[in-house]
Amino acid sequence: MNSQSGKTIGVFDSGFGGLTVLHALLAAHNPVSRYAFLGDSARLPYGSKSRRTIARYAVESARYLVERQNAGFLVIACNTASALALDAITAAVPVPVLGVITPGAEAAKAASRTGDVLVIATDATVQSRAYSAALAAHGLRALEKACPLLVPLVEEGWTSHPVTREIIRIYLDELLAHASSIGMKPDTLLLGCTHYPLIRPLIEQAVPAGIRVIDSAEATAAAVAARFHNRQSSEPTELRFFATDSVEKFERLGSRFLGKPTGPVTLVDLDG
Ligand code: DGL
Repeated sequence: MNSQSGKTIGVFDSGFGGLTVLHALLAAHNPVSRYAFLGDSARLPYGSKSRRTIARYAVESARYLVERQNAGFLVIACNTASALALDAITAAVPVPVLGVITPGAEAAKAASRTGDVLVIATDATVQSRAYSAALAAHGLRALEKACPLLVPLVEEGWTSHPVTREIIRIYLDELLAHASSIGMKPDTLLLGCTHYPLIRPLIEQAVPAGIRVIDSAEATAAAVAARFHNRQSSEPTELRFFATDSVEKFERLGSRFLGKPTGPVTLVDLDG
């Protein structure tokens, strides 16, 4: 690693969704001013794949950020990779690694009064039961539901489309009916996928009054800021973006997730 080692935070997602976490990191006035974001968009979605494949892809992505972009700290801004590959990533790179599941569970703990929490996420995340375990560690009861149609809708840019609205309504109706059939009294809905903050307004309109919608982006950003609070930086923020598929699409859609233009994105080949 060169002299920049340790000064860069590497942020990784399977696609664009993790830009919502980067957005929160920037808003948290983190004293670290250098970020490298990698979206493994060529191999998205991770959420429909097996643990073995997710771990292989995520480890390759993490190594790229550490070995090629000199990241000294990694944020896994992807729920699926955090749920199924955090151990594999941590074992593969010589830098600290933070996933989004633990901060998400802590945010749920802070939000819930009834102790019953609903989670929507990808298939792989739900099957891993990572959120149920993390929430149980805080004394919370979880009911998880896979919503596999939502990621492609967000990737398509249909973040306020009537079709997306209707699909959200169907998923949430099913989840709420299930919760009520087992006697749960949920007051919190945790968005367990980094794509879902982009459709948060539609989700908030679809949940009944009394259920608060939360996501892990801000909690993750706060955890990173706490870690680096002793550092001072007067340097301007430097953002570098890398994608494994169409940089044009990343530049076009990425700005929606980041809340501002990404600027030029570099194409990388992780298989090479
Ligand atoms: N980034 C993934 C997550 O947060 C969603 C997209 C995918 O399935 O790869 O779970």
